[in-house]
Amino acid sequence: MSIRMIWTLLPFYLFCGIRSSPTLTPSTSQSPETAVAPCLIIDSGHFADCLGRQLNRVPWEYFPITLEKIDLSYNKLQAIYASDFSRLPKLRGLLLMYNNISHIDDDAFQNNPLLEKLDIFNNSLQEIPTLALMPLSNLKSLSMSNNFYKHATLAERFAKFLQLQVLSLGGPLVRGLKKGDFEPIKNLRLQRFAIKCSSNLSYYEPGSLQVIQTKEMSFDMAIDQQPSALLDMLRDFANKNLTDLQFRNLFEFTYYMGHEDIFRNLKNISAYRLIFHRGKFNENLLRMALTNLEKAPIKRLRLQYIDFARSPTFVNSGTDSSITDLELDNLDLWYISNPDILRFDWQFTWFNKIKALSIQYMYFNSAPCDAYDEMHRVHLLDISNNRLRDEYIYNRRCVYKGTMPSLHTFNLSTNELTSLKDLSSLTRHFDQLQVLDVSNNKLGSVAKSVGCVWHQNITHFIAHHNQFVSGALLCLPTTVEVLDLSFCNLDELNMTYFEKADNLKELLLSGNKIKFIPSKWTSPSVQLLEIDGNSFGIISTESFQHMPQLSRLKAGNNPYQCNCELHAFVQDTASKGQVNLTDWPLNYHCYHPEPLLKTLISNYLPGRVACDIRLVIIICVATTAAVLLVFMVICYIFDLPWYTKATYQIIRAKYRVYKEKAAGEVGTYAYHAFISYSHWDADWVRDQLLPCLEDSKNPYRLCIHERDFMPGKWIIDNIIENIENSRKAIFVLSRHFVNSEWCNYELYFAQQRAMGKTFSDVILVVKEPINPSSLPNKYCKLKKMLSTKTYLEWPQQVSQQAFFWAQLRSVLGRPSPTTSRRYSARSRTYTEETQPLDDTGPDNGKLNVAIVGEPGNKIQENSDVANQRQLPVAGN
Ligand SMILES: *[C@@H]1O[C@H](CO)[C@@H](O)[C@H](O)[C@H]1NC(C)=O
Ligand SMILES: *[C@@H]1O[C@H](CO)[C@@H](O)[C@H](O)[C@H]1NC(C)=O
Ligand SMILES: *[C@@H]1O[C@H](CO)[C@@H](O)[C@H](O)[C@H]1NC(C)=O
Ligand SMILES: *[C@@H]1O[C@H](CO)[C@@H](O)[C@H](O)[C@H]1NC(C)=O
Ligand SMILES: *[C@@H]1O[C@H](CO)[C@@H](O)[C@H](O)[C@H]1NC(C)=O
Ligand SMILES: *[C@@H]1O[C@H](CO)[C@@H](O)[C@H](O)[C@H]1NC(C)=O
Ligand SMILES: *[C@@H]1O[C@H](CO)[C@@H](O)[C@H](O)[C@H]1NC(C)=O
Ligand SMILES: *[C@@H]1O[C@H](CO)[C@@H](O)[C@H](O)[C@H]1NC(C)=O
Ligand SMILES: *[C@@H]1O[C@H](CO)[C@@H](O)[C@H](O)[C@H]1NC(C)=O
Repeated sequence: MSIRMIWTLLPFYLFCGIRSSPTLTPSTSQSPETAVAPCLIIDSGHFADCLGRQLNRVPWEYFPITLEKIDLSYNKLQAIYASDFSRLPKLRGLLLMYNNISHIDDDAFQNNPLLEKLDIFNNSLQEIPTLALMPLSNLKSLSMSNNFYKHATLAERFAKFLQLQVLSLGGPLVRGLKKGDFEPIKNLRLQRFAIKCSSNLSYYEPGSLQVIQTKEMSFDMAIDQQPSALLDMLRDFANKNLTDLQFRNLFEFTYYMGHEDIFRNLKNISAYRLIFHRGKFNENLLRMALTNLEKAPIKRLRLQYIDFARSPTFVNSGTDSSITDLELDNLDLWYISNPDILRFDWQFTWFNKIKALSIQYMYFNSAPCDAYDEMHRVHLLDISNNRLRDEYIYNRRCVYKGTMPSLHTFNLSTNELTSLKDLSSLTRHFDQLQVLDVSNNKLGSVAKSVGCVWHQNITHFIAHHNQFVSGALLCLPTTVEVLDLSFCNLDELNMTYFEKADNLKELLLSGNKIKFIPSKWTSPSVQLLEIDGNSFGIISTESFQHMPQLSRLKAGNNPYQCNCELHAFVQDTASKGQVNLTDWPLNYHCYHPEPLLKTLISNYLPGRVACDIRLVIIICVATTAAVLLVFMVICYIFDLPWYTKATYQIIRAKYRVYKEKAAGEVGTYAYHAFISYSHWDADWVRDQLLPCLEDSKNPYRLCIHERDFMPGKWIIDNIIENIENSRKAIFVLSRHFVNSEWCNYELYFAQQRAMGKTFSDVILVVKEPINPSSLPNKYCKLKKMLSTKTYLEWPQQVSQQAFFWAQLRSVLGRPSPTTSRRYSARSRTYTEETQPLDDTGPDNGKLNVAIVGEPGNKIQENSDVANQRQLPVAGN
């Protein structure tokens, strides 16, 4: 605690010590209560909110020096002390109303020179705290009525409040006003002046208020005991330019029964508006007021919370009413206890020069035909908030034609109307009617929404908060430019109506249950569309394409499905800039799919690729092309077409064999071996191989294409058939073999036949050395065989050749004599022509270790198996 603070607090402690009230001792007895912060300091230290916290002292120690406004109303404060606000030099507003303050220190506001607004309404002050107020030279608003002082006399010093604009004073103990009471403020030009006196006003000295210069004047004084005081009050304000003149509780306890015209000075009052608030009015008193008002320049009259009663003495003088010339811009009749006031003088003639008539909270239950007849100048009729039912305002026996010729706006809001048809019948003849407000009713049911005929002038139809079914739309006026059907429980829109209502510029459908936006929604003139708070999840660029004028769209708070369509809509709307999404982005959330729930749609960015259909197509096409290309390259490299063709041939051949077998032929081996060779090696085969194997003691039957192929048969068939008919296949490998397509086929078919077994039926004879790795890829099988299978190498040295033949014979096995020669009928012209050359017998040659790791018995075994089986080829 700084030294300075100790010094400022010292007098305070001393002062407390002097006074006896223990509850006011700060910090000690109060600390438990104030331990919880008694005020809310908000607005970055500018405002202390201490409203209604049961405080019985000002918690000054919690106030930061920056405070500009303090609200201490509705507490239990009993006194204001010098220290309470002394540390707050910036204080501008102080609200102390509704406490029990009976004392204010004279120097309480000494350090608050900036204070502009002080409210000590409804406290217990016994005196006007003039001395305490004196430092407040900037005071603009001082409210100190409803206190317990007995005189409203202002001290001389009030003249110094040059800034004062609003002043209220008085209280229940002020018995009356004296002429000099307000003399000190005669030079102040006030905005508002309010004076309250006892309900039992005893005296009012003429001229008491004459000095007051104000725009708004409010009397809160009951003249039950002094009715004639009203004459003096009105005279005091004669010819002053008032905006509002208000009388509260004019007669608080009794109805005026006198005969004196106490309102006669109203004629000279030039106020913009006259307000009677609370109080008792009987018919006669009201007639006095109105008769004088007819001659006064006042243009607006409001009667609110009035207790109205008929006067027993009034005699209905037939068709004549005393009030026929009440020329007012506005007549407001609000919260009047007795709706009889409407039929004032038993006529409605008092309405006949009213321009805007507002009758609210009156709960009348009939509107006689003549009422409509009288309101011929009314252009605004507001009968909202009256619990009106259809039959109260619409009577089939009345003739409405020609009535209400000026009515422009008809407000029927907040009633209990149910029938659109009755409404249309009532208003059909109101020639100038343009605006119809039927919000907060029960309109729109199926049954009561047929056969409506509306006046052609209706441009605004305001019907929010009703219960519309989709079909009831067809019972709405089609001439409207503005249609408000917000909060009407609509779940569907009938397009038939919107096609007809082609003037529609503003359409408000917020807060309904609309489940989808119809695709063919055509509204050529719509500029503003509000469909927020509905139940549709899908919206797309097509949704509003038939609304070319649309410039403002409010569509937030719908359960949106976040997909490309929506994204495209948002992008499209933003880029075109023609339509303004007025509630974007904070009201737009995803609802579907679940992972995106509550995500702001503005944060939902699915990416271009996912959403642009052209990109998707381009990517698809490109990918397919690439895959095809890769496939083709692979095909080329691995010779797939060749294999495919070959496989096809095998299947064909097998099928054929199967058919032949089915026809009864039993396939057996016709040859011991099929020899495959390129024609470059034909000489070797003819000159060396054939003689050696065929012309020996035990001749082998060999198949070579030059000789044994069936002429006229397709070569592939020949190959397959002969391979199938041969026990073994010998391949004579050389460089040329590799280059021969047919040889490759033969090799392939032989392999196919040997599939699933060892390749022992395939014998490789390497006539010239081949480097396996130099072979093309399509010979991968051959490469594999060369690397894994034993093969016979044709020795260049003659001496070794005999061994080669022996080897070959042993691999071929013994020629079986039992093998039937199905082909024997075939000509053997070739063999006859070309005689084998000298046989280089096996005994001639030396052994050459050409067989690598292939045991002879295995070969034997295989050949035995082959001998035993004699199987049909197709069985493989
Ligand atoms: C107001 O304060 C007075 C004492 O100054 C007390 O007698 C009275 O009961 C209080 N009124 C209320 C409503 O607290
Ligand atoms: C203050 O307000 C209360 C409640 O509204 C009321 O009972 C009391 O009479 C008022 N005090 C004064 C002085 O008007
Ligand atoms: C008003 O004053 C009269 C006497 O002038 C008295 O009889 C009556 O009780 C008072 N009424 C009220 C509510 O103070
Ligand atoms: C009232 O206002 C009118 C013009 O609005 C003005 O001519 C007239 O002098 C004013 N009267 C007073 C008393 O201020
Ligand atoms: C009130 O108006 C009447 C005419 O309407 C006039 O004769 C009378 O002098 C006026 N009274 C005051 C106080 O201005
Ligand atoms: C009709 O009255 C209601 C309530 O009294 C008000 O909110 C609404 O603005 C009025 N309508 C028109 C068109 O003035
Ligand atoms: C309303 O309609 C009538 C004819 O029914 C026409 O004479 C009048 O000018 C129209 N008023 C407006 C404001 O359109
Ligand atoms: C709209 O109203 C027309 C006419 O009553 C009806 O034929 C049609 O079925 C309705 N359409 C919808 C979607 O309710
Ligand atoms: C869209 O409307 C809102 C509110 O009406 C406004 O604040 C905003 O500037 C408008 N934006 C554009 C681009 O017109």
